[in-house]
Amino acid sequence: MKGVVLSGGSGTRLRPITHSMAKQLVPVANRPILHYGLSDMAAAGITEVCIIISPQTGDDIRRSVGTGADLGLDVSYVVQDEPAGLAHALGCALPWVDGDDVLMYLGDNMVKRGVADVVDDYRDKDPNCQILLTRVDNPSAFGVAELDDRGQVMRLVEKPSVPKSDLALVGVYLFDDSISEAIDSIQPSARGELEITDAIQWLIDHDRTVNSSVVRGWWKDTGRKEDLLHANQLVMRDLEPDVQGEVIGGQVRGPVQVAAGARLIDCDVTGPAIIGPRADLRRTTIGPNTAIGARCELLDASVEESILMEDVTVHGWRLRSSLVGRSTRLRGAAPSQFVELTLGEQCEVIGE
Ligand code: TTP
Repeated sequence: MKGVVLSGGSGTRLRPITHSMAKQLVPVANRPILHYGLSDMAAAGITEVCIIISPQTGDDIRRSVGTGADLGLDVSYVVQDEPAGLAHALGCALPWVDGDDVLMYLGDNMVKRGVADVVDDYRDKDPNCQILLTRVDNPSAFGVAELDDRGQVMRLVEKPSVPKSDLALVGVYLFDDSISEAIDSIQPSARGELEITDAIQWLIDHDRTVNSSVVRGWWKDTGRKEDLLHANQLVMRDLEPDVQGEVIGGQVRGPVQVAAGARLIDCDVTGPAIIGPRADLRRTTIGPNTAIGARCELLDASVEESILMEDVTVHGWRLRSSLVGRSTRLRGAAPSQFVELTLGEQCEVIGE
């Protein structure tokens, strides 16, 4: 079995961050989201992986993953010229897949327990397609599957106004070579995309076996800021305390990681929290559920429930539920209360 990871797309829901970076490279607990899915593939024994990239952000993704050797993978890249849909993206990789079975993973999705179980299940039962599902409270916001009594998928409905099931599609799919004919047979949807749900519905309508399994543990689509911050929180629930950097004065409570080369002077840190290499924090309050990227410089600041990417400077500001892009600077007289911000790369915010 080979792996295909979709890391193109437009990322409109994560603007302004995605004006200058790939959403799959946004860090969750200081690690790019994409790397979690790639590690899941390696753990499931899939070593040959093709990453679909866009012309805009593809080079960054290549730089971040390289040959994949660090993750135990052999990674190839295929450019999708425009974000014409998930089925279109998979179609771009099919010449590379070359008739093998394929596991398709959306590069901005995270699955807590990985995909090894479902790969084993697929190999065991050998259906034409297997989808992963999870129960959700608001099925109208998702692609939803309707199953028969034996758990076989009868129908997929995209964002149903009156949902007949609460089983939403998770961004991990397994296919045999029949997906090629399905993709060739479907037409673009009303939003102009070749939809993977339509391709799977084509398989169902043409008497192919489409199985499903319900994921254990959490699954997260990190397409929006709230989901990213939630994913950050979920991943850090399992954080092992590990303080390698220098902590001088102040307090560190709960599961906190401080990377080597980071320095905290008179700071108050409440875990879960993670502080990246060579970060420099003084008289600052951090956490909980906060990730501070490498080389950030924080002075007289407070940051909670937030992600600060690399090289961010915060002097005096109090941030909550914020997502701050690389090399952004907040300084000058700050508001006295907490603020909630979403800022892209290299922004400059100066208080009066
Ligand atoms: P989506 O989040 O569904 O689409 P998007 O990236 O265009 O985001 P938005 O809706 O905010 O504009 O995509 C899921 C994953 O699949 C994500 O990692 C991007 C990737 N993708 C492709 O590689 N090619 C595509 O044509 C599309 C639509 C998505």
